[in-house]
Amino acid sequence: MRGNLVVANWKANPPTLREAKTLFSSLKRSAKSLSRTTLVICPPVAYLAPLALTYRGSDIAFGSQDVSAHAGGAHTGEVTVTMLKSLGAKFSIVGHSERRAIGETNDQIAKKLVQALEKGLGGILCVGERERDSEAHYLEEIRRQITSALLGKSVAQVKRTTIAYEPVWAIGKDADAAISARDLHQMVLFIKKVLTELYPDAAKAVSILYGGSVEAGNAKSLMHESGVSGFLVGHASLSPDSFLPILDAVEGRARLA
Ligand code: PGA
Repeated sequence: MRGNLVVANWKANPPTLREAKTLFSSLKRSAKSLSRTTLVICPPVAYLAPLALTYRGSDIAFGSQDVSAHAGGAHTGEVTVTMLKSLGAKFSIVGHSERRAIGETNDQIAKKLVQALEKGLGGILCVGERERDSEAHYLEEIRRQITSALLGKSVAQVKRTTIAYEPVWAIGKDADAAISARDLHQMVLFIKKVLTELYPDAAKAVSILYGGSVEAGNAKSLMHESGVSGFLVGHASLSPDSFLPILDAVEGRARLA
């Protein structure tokens, strides 16, 4: 895997497979020229199979937006790690705030992460506070989310985990509503401290991403002034015009024609 990471979370978009294929193929060419950045696209699971089969061997890695906590069996509607791997997926997002908002608990997230890590999918663990309070209780919320998800995992498993810091208050807005590079830097230091306390031998290997209204206008400063290794991008990943400048910022290059 190349050092920096950009994860495109398409959420429940686009509306049809045809549009998904058009979007994917328009990103494919740009991914080819990346030398420092791994691009992971997480389409809705309904599109994962057709896209992964059509574009097998492209420079873009596939990921899932969620994964089952079960290995298989009588669990209607669940999609397991083994199924995702058989389609060629390499990563799964786990614990996205939009899933936490519909009731996913820290305990379920820990089980999903163990499924992913035990069976060789890279786990992208989302953590983030709903709001910031002046007494910094939100830091404890972040610590709790990381600790409950990682506790009991082996050093090797933790090394295969990526943490995506996604403050809920910054998601789905625009660049002005996102976090400042300075505040993000503070949070990156805090997450590193928590990781070092939990897993001193693995902490350095864990990449930290930021997600929440990353756009062309803030990608460069967030990338270069905060210590993150890349981004988890939602709405701006749905069109090449808004997404490619973010890829360039992470890659550290000027916009190519
Ligand atoms: P956003 O979403 O980029 O649209 O804010 C990020 C996310 O929820 O992963």
